Amino acid sequence: MTTSAPEPIRPIVWRDNRLWLLDQRQLPEHEIYLDYDDPEVVAAAIRDMVVRGAPAIGVTAAYATVLAARRRYAADPERWRCGFENDLATLVAARPTAINLHWAIERMRGIATGAADPEPVLLKEARAIEDEDVTANRAMGRLGADLLDNGAVLTHCNAGALATAGFGTALGVIRQGYADGRIDHVFADETRPWMQGARLTAWELAHDGIPTTLLCEGAAAALLREGHVKWVIVGADRVAANGDVANKIGTYGLAVLARHHGVRFMVVAPTSTIDRAATDGTQIPIEQRPAAEVLGCAGQRIAAPGVEAWNPVFDVTPADLVDALVTERGVVISPSCEGIEALFGS
Ligand code: MRU
Repeated sequence: MTTSAPEPIRPIVWRDNRLWLLDQRQLPEHEIYLDYDDPEVVAAAIRDMVVRGAPAIGVTAAYATVLAARRRYAADPERWRCGFENDLATLVAARPTAINLHWAIERMRGIATGAADPEPVLLKEARAIEDEDVTANRAMGRLGADLLDNGAVLTHCNAGALATAGFGTALGVIRQGYADGRIDHVFADETRPWMQGARLTAWELAHDGIPTTLLCEGAAAALLREGHVKWVIVGADRVAANGDVANKIGTYGLAVLARHHGVRFMVVAPTSTIDRAATDGTQIPIEQRPAAEVLGCAGQRIAAPGVEAWNPVFDVTPADLVDALVTERGVVISPSCEGIEALFGS
């Protein structure tokens, strides 16, 4: 009997001159694409988590700049740039921690400069950003999988196809590692409060037929003490020049636990996630989201009345807790300023 490979998951689609986003808030129950032709509505979709994950929001923003150029140029072919800049500012403010959003918009702005008719050249660039992301993920999958020992891995949040243009960063390594026979089981943190692990990572791995067990974040220490997990593998929203890593809240705690239990800790992120201007993690802005996300679950209030909530959605893992940073340009073991600069050839 032959089984065909599962269809690749595509969270972002450009079709019929519009942007289509798989509404990740509705997964795994409903697979619904929403379509967009207004960049301000795309910015709201990024803020409201229709699409999330650092590379995915970068690719989304790249296509949103095409929509911005189209409407501003149609309104005034002579003076479209001022309104275009306002749209870019709205997009970049949608989520502050993921540097890919900023990176993609800067790259698109550079292409728009000097373009007489901006839409065609911007569309070509947005497609290139999307394609490069998938290519980078495949390369990182190979490089990261080569580091693995046989056994289980633990991942946090969703750094999969849904968080990128396709294949995933941490889940790219996991997909490749499973195909190579180096991973026998995946453990996934449920990832409060948005449940990216329970809803998205579990859905992706089930889609690919990779055996997965879900756990509450609070169970991670007990799991790592059992000894079967060899690597913790996560993505990143921003990596500072010294290797400090901002990623989903709870990542730092996992890194501390991994070091305590002799489990290795891998961060998988394309070079577009590295912010060379941030000398260390203290310079990375951490997004705070509404308290209601912690006070409830799936739209249902669960906390006792009168209590407040603290909801930073990312934390910073110090570089010295990271054993390997996997990028598409190579692996940095025990990341440092020098190792990261070497990726950029300087
Ligand atoms: O709040 P989210 O769901 O956008 O957070 C996503 C993460 O923290 C991911 O780990 C990170 O963006 C890397 S995605 C390849």
